[in-house]
Amino acid sequence: MAATQRTGFPQLTHRPEWTALADHRAEGRPHLRELFAQDPGRAERYVVRVGDLYIDYSKHLITDETLALLQELATATDVFGLRDAMFRGEKINVTEDRAVLHTALRAPRDAVIEVDGENVVPKVHAVLDTMARFADRVRSGEWTGHTGRRIRNVVNIGIGGSDLGPAMAYEALRPYTARELTFRFVSNVDGADLHEATRDLDPAETLFIVASKTFTTIETITNATSARSWLLRAFDGDDKAVAKHFVALSTNAGKVTEFGIDPDNMFEFWDWVGGRYSYDSAIGLSLMIAIGPDRFREMLDGFHLVDEHFRTAPAEANAPLLLGLLGVWYGDFFDAQSHAVLPYSHYLSKFTAYLQQLDMESNGKSVQRDGRPVEWQTGPVVWGTPGTNGQHAYYQLIHQGTKLIPADFIGFARPAGELSGELRAQHDLLMANFFAQTQALAFGKSAEEVRAEGVAEEQVAHRTFHGDHPTTTILAGEPTPSVLGQLIALYEHKVFVQGAIWNIDSFDQWGVELGKVLAKRVEPALTEGADVPGLDPSSKALVAAYRTLKNA
Ligand code: F6P
Repeated sequence: MAATQRTGFPQLTHRPEWTALADHRAEGRPHLRELFAQDPGRAERYVVRVGDLYIDYSKHLITDETLALLQELATATDVFGLRDAMFRGEKINVTEDRAVLHTALRAPRDAVIEVDGENVVPKVHAVLDTMARFADRVRSGEWTGHTGRRIRNVVNIGIGGSDLGPAMAYEALRPYTARELTFRFVSNVDGADLHEATRDLDPAETLFIVASKTFTTIETITNATSARSWLLRAFDGDDKAVAKHFVALSTNAGKVTEFGIDPDNMFEFWDWVGGRYSYDSAIGLSLMIAIGPDRFREMLDGFHLVDEHFRTAPAEANAPLLLGLLGVWYGDFFDAQSHAVLPYSHYLSKFTAYLQQLDMESNGKSVQRDGRPVEWQTGPVVWGTPGTNGQHAYYQLIHQGTKLIPADFIGFARPAGELSGELRAQHDLLMANFFAQTQALAFGKSAEEVRAEGVAEEQVAHRTFHGDHPTTTILAGEPTPSVLGQLIALYEHKVFVQGAIWNIDSFDQWGVELGKVLAKRVEPALTEGADVPGLDPSSKALVAAYRTLKNA
């Protein structure tokens, strides 16, 4: 049995380090206002710099003692031991008996990382090189469609990790993209998604990238099949067109061929790359076409920089470790149920949606690595949208509601490249909001301060802000490809740290299987009115109502 299964690992809540944290929490601590008044130096001390990232965790509900106790928990749960096993290529995904090596996808050419005795780094770079050649041909117009016209539209069809990464990064790096090309991302099995993505495109100028690790995902295969029909309608059913307009990104060459895509047009990756950790594998092909191979490699270097930091930085200055521990502190000792990620960059509009899969599919688990149930909280609900929009929607609840919502504020000192004139000047206003929010959340506004403004007594309570809301501030120069890679790797490893502490397998996703199976069973009832044996009474009544409405 693999050591990384951690059979019989001590129950987390029985560990003395856990009890010490619970006692420490029960003792209480001063309000953030007092913590800063007593120790202004925490503003500089509780900062960690990684690459281009300046990470300030001073506005957390912690003292030096809290940090020391959290570090003891990390040591007791052997976070770094599991980390080293991951980097070494051991099969730490125990329920699927797989290595977890997204870090190999961004390792330099001369690195040696072995899975089952084989160095995987040369394979990684061979695929990256093939992707680069293909991306250059599309970008230059050398790769043409069936009628010889150049490709002007790229449509990525995938879902989950085969969609969210490239779609998010395309938005994040828009200023770096080939503006003369159109990029669309289709994921939903709702036909409206593909319809809207293709309705104004010319099939002769459109390339479909079918992205699916397994090449069995029903949404992706259905959309890809419909896209092929759309294409072939334009070419009188001449299926020779497929070779020029369809490429595949997958680990499953058999299924790709079965679908009708030439294996020469397949870009490979491997089962040791998890879906939600895959966008710097072949799954990033659409992004590479958009930003070009050099920028793509800059992004990979950004990932690698943080991988190296996580692998080598001492515990007290290890950013993913610190952020992971802070999440455990709130989730397990304050009963915080959610975690907000609030990027103050329009280009990062899909960043939090991307993190939702990364975090919630990884750590939304309730059994330990060896199958015992957990008796503690695991992954939080991750949510958020770009500032300042959220300020005029849900920030009210963060400021004055009854729930504790730790939040990450991500901002940039300079706007992304293209902005100029008055639009560039708006950046300081954006960032003034950014700093105002973390200030208000931490320090609030006392009743005395409200009264001093002459507010009528019956209004005072309504206008008081308790403050003491924890936030992390992450600042960088601008959202470059490298910075994006650094940010994503930071969150990947934070999620890893938490999974290690909670003793769960962060790399499987059995929780999505049941819905898939049931959807397959129910579909004939919707399309043909077929009887579904064993269907529960509620679903049966709903299916009947659906069919009545459908046929009305
Ligand atoms: O949601 C389950 C899941 O397996 C994800 O982990 C994955 O990213 C997604 O489906 C898509 O899978 P595939 O790339 O195999 O189509």
